[in-house]
Amino acid sequence: MTFTRRQVLTAGAALALSPLRAFAAMPELVATESRQQIAPEGYPDTAIWSYGGGAPGPEIRVAQGGRVSRRLVNKLPQPTAVHWHGIRIDNAMDGVPGLTQEAVPQGDSFDYDFHVPDAGTYWYHSHNRSMEQVARGLYGPLIVEEPQAPDIDRDIVLMLDDWRLDPETAAIDGNFDNGHDLSHAGRFGNLLTVNGQFDPAFEAGQGERLRLRLVNAANARVLEVGLDGLEGWIVALDGMPLEAPLPVSGAFPLAPAQRADLFVDVTAENSAAASLLSVERDGGYGLCRFDVSGQAARVRRGAPEALPPNPLPEIGDLAAAPLHEMRLQGGAMRWLDRALLGETEMGGRELAQLGKFWALNGRADRPEAPFLDAARGSLHRIAFVNDTGFDHGMHLHGHHFRLIGANGEPGPWRDTVLVPPGETRQIALAADNPGKWLLHCHMLGHAMSGMTSWFRVT
Ligand code: C2O
Ligand code: CU
Repeated sequence: MTFTRRQVLTAGAALALSPLRAFAAMPELVATESRQQIAPEGYPDTAIWSYGGGAPGPEIRVAQGGRVSRRLVNKLPQPTAVHWHGIRIDNAMDGVPGLTQEAVPQGDSFDYDFHVPDAGTYWYHSHNRSMEQVARGLYGPLIVEEPQAPDIDRDIVLMLDDWRLDPETAAIDGNFDNGHDLSHAGRFGNLLTVNGQFDPAFEAGQGERLRLRLVNAANARVLEVGLDGLEGWIVALDGMPLEAPLPVSGAFPLAPAQRADLFVDVTAENSAAASLLSVERDGGYGLCRFDVSGQAARVRRGAPEALPPNPLPEIGDLAAAPLHEMRLQGGAMRWLDRALLGETEMGGRELAQLGKFWALNGRADRPEAPFLDAARGSLHRIAFVNDTGFDHGMHLHGHHFRLIGANGEPGPWRDTVLVPPGETRQIALAADNPGKWLLHCHMLGHAMSGMTSWFRVT
């Protein structure tokens, strides 16, 4: 058949219009300088960097299996990029400058558009100069809802952070190259916040069941989280449901970048305040409060059911999976003797002068060749051997993995594993997502000063 002039015109118009529609429909995520009351009332406000004017940035909430589309607009004084932490994402959308995209220059923009396969609690944060940009406030929550809402009364996202502010001006400490921080535990702050506020209060009714979505957005601090006036269960870690909810007794660790979803029942008496605690050696103090009101309207519900599992890959025969060792090296007290930087082998003193204090398998920078070259669909074991005197939270991009327990059996699904000093943690990785993926310590100062590597799936 031959096209009439009218048909050709209509077809042409449709072609020209559809990209335009997509253009108009993409909501913006503007990275910008802003101000916020971070320190307690009575102190000055703080100049921060944020997505959309506040830290945390806007909550992105989407149904499982849906898509997230955001145009990052960079109004910061530095290039930037957004990483969607914990999402098993298309590689091109992973937001890692130098590996999956170029950093977005000042005044420019980049379109992120991706599918979210798994329900759960995730987050997004800057992945360019992240040691500085995340510390200045560039992070926000990304929530993927289960197809059927679980039996809870309120859903509360709690993003925890650890700011280092000047005690008088409340300005962010801008010394991000501090060799002492970099070579020790990392940049610890002096003010813990929840959702960018000091000790905020949330409404809750007595007898209610709350879902608390905890995200540790701190640069370096491993939080020990406890409950007061609340009785709870951990139902998911790093977004992924546990096969059986785990009752919270005492405190549990939450390393930088890790998440924990809790179901908690409000057990506090009427009008008493319940709290989420940061537990430390000398006791606990409140991260945030729940102002409890009303009468005990409901009967206690007992332990919750597990959340429905996500469509994660099968972990096959572990014994047959090759074992790759990654040694975590360096830092204060175990200073690097030698390590490779680019093609050059250097001594520890020379490396320190270049701001490199750590190494992964003898490399103090992201190497040319990947740590692991995996065929798509293959199963691997990685042993993180911590030869240093400090905690490290090792994070893999584009995949979740199963933490192998002391019994040799695969345990919970995670995307970030805490490896205490002197210890080893083994993980099982079903490499099923093609692309180039970063593997690094999520203590962001460590990542910057030597603890960054990568793996490839083809
Ligand atoms: Cu949450 Cu490579 O990052
Ligand atoms: Cu580290």
